[in-house]
Amino acid sequence: MSTAPDLEPLTFRAATADDVADVLALVRLAYRGPESRRGWTSEAELLDDERIDTAGVLAKITAPSGLVLLAAAPADPLVACCELVQRSASVAYFGMFAVRPAAQSAGLGRVVLAEAERHARTTFGVSTMEMTVIGQRVPLIEWYLRRGYVLTGEHRPFPYDELVNGRALRDDLYFEVLSKTL
Ligand SMILES: CC(C)(COP(=O)(O)OP(=O)(O)OC[C@H]1O[C@@H](n2cnc3c(N)ncnc32)[C@H](O)[C@@H]1OP(=O)(O)O)[C@@H](O)C(=O)NCCC(=O)NCCS
Repeated sequence: MSTAPDLEPLTFRAATADDVADVLALVRLAYRGPESRRGWTSEAELLDDERIDTAGVLAKITAPSGLVLLAAAPADPLVACCELVQRSASVAYFGMFAVRPAAQSAGLGRVVLAEAERHARTTFGVSTMEMTVIGQRVPLIEWYLRRGYVLTGEHRPFPYDELVNGRALRDDLYFEVLSKTL
């Protein structure tokens, strides 16, 4: 697997309120709908909603204890994003991870995750990263296991009542909690 020349090097910055619309568009593209099926993993088989709305993205960008990290490539000023939240003195939460579908499987996800871990370690000073992944998304969970995450064994309920303008396509969704010592 090699990264296409116009997709590297990646540069990173924290999102501001001006980025809300672009982040929202990227997240919806990667997680839902026909375009997301261009990538190797999405939630289009499981959920038919809009994933998040403007207020939700803005809340993550302006969260006092977190940030939304953006990645730019030479060919794409917003090729990937993720959310980082400091949950405690030792634990950070990783979420809203998206790579533009057309740029997936080129190694960018791996680079963005590593940068998020570096940021959590050096800026938050935490020693553990935690995330939740829908339990039915086995290839994605395996991808995180290859990145050093472990299944904690903890399950959390899927928030069916927080879906944005849509519906779930099955009623047995749940979250696996994954963690990694940084
Ligand atoms: C998850 C995501 C961020 C990964 O980004 P990416 O740029 O594709 O990641 P990489 O290129 O670094 O890695 C691609 C991996 O997919 C694997 N892969 C490719 N096609 C695959 C397939 N059909 N089935 C399973 N794995 C596959 C590759 O082997 C590679 O894994 P490896 O590095 O361990 O060998 C991206 O797919 C995405 O945005 N998905 C939609 C949103 C989402 O699901 N976010 C995560 C929510 S927890």
